[in-house]
Amino acid sequence: MIPELNIWEHSQALRELCYRRGLDLEPEMDCAAQGAELLAPFIKSSQNKRLKLLDVGCGGGHFYHSLKRRGLEVDYRGLDYSPSIVAVARKAFIELGLDPQKIILGDLRDLTGFECDLAAMINVLSFNADFREPLNRLAETGARVLVIRDFFGPKTVITYETDGFLDNGFNHLKGYWNEWSSPEVADCLSALGYQANFLIDKRTQGQTELVVNKPYRWSWLLAEKKNP
Ligand SMILES: C[S@@+](CC[C@H](N)C(=O)[O-])C[C@H]1O[C@@H](n2cnc3c(N)ncnc32)[C@H](O)[C@@H]1O
Repeated sequence: MIPELNIWEHSQALRELCYRRGLDLEPEMDCAAQGAELLAPFIKSSQNKRLKLLDVGCGGGHFYHSLKRRGLEVDYRGLDYSPSIVAVARKAFIELGLDPQKIILGDLRDLTGFECDLAAMINVLSFNADFREPLNRLAETGARVLVIRDFFGPKTVITYETDGFLDNGFNHLKGYWNEWSSPEVADCLSALGYQANFLIDKRTQGQTELVVNKPYRWSWLLAEKKNP
């Protein structure tokens, strides 16, 4: 994604929030808590093996803290394609004495060379043009479990429009705000060798909420490899 055209590159407020979250100075997001709880059984049952976890579209890297505070020890890597968000996440990690190399600049549509056991993708897929390419790339990492929070519903609805809440001078930029058909996503994952289960989002309970004034209904997808 060309940074100049990337909506995530043009919100100082979001960047500052990501930085504070990276420093663990903000209250924990309910979705980060639920994501960690969904992954907990897999991490706890891995006996003495330290699993590799890829946090795709990691923002400030705060999911690391949600895992850590629950004693869920993993080999964490956060990936995000927005250079300025990666920069603040790395800065926060350095200030906390953590390895900034845990945060990687990259696009989830090119995960060449990435290998992981578990993947989390929280509030990210909707903002991409399609779900198929990201899910194919995630499957190629070898991840046994995918934990995804997104806008899953009865049908796929592609919306490409302005954000409206960006820094002055950038509100002409458009992004995707897509809803994905749960059956289509489940079929795609099944073809990739995963069993998909959709779960209720604890905070929003299936109710609609506004994300930059656009209606969203969040839910979770827990996908497990059928033959690990
Ligand atoms: C709404 S934020 C979510 C951040 C974090 N996961 C959370 O739940 O707070 C979406 C993030 O996904 C990143 N993102 C969106 N599409 C991406 C892609 N194709 N590859 C890598 N990162 C992406 C954006 O840069 C942004 O930081």
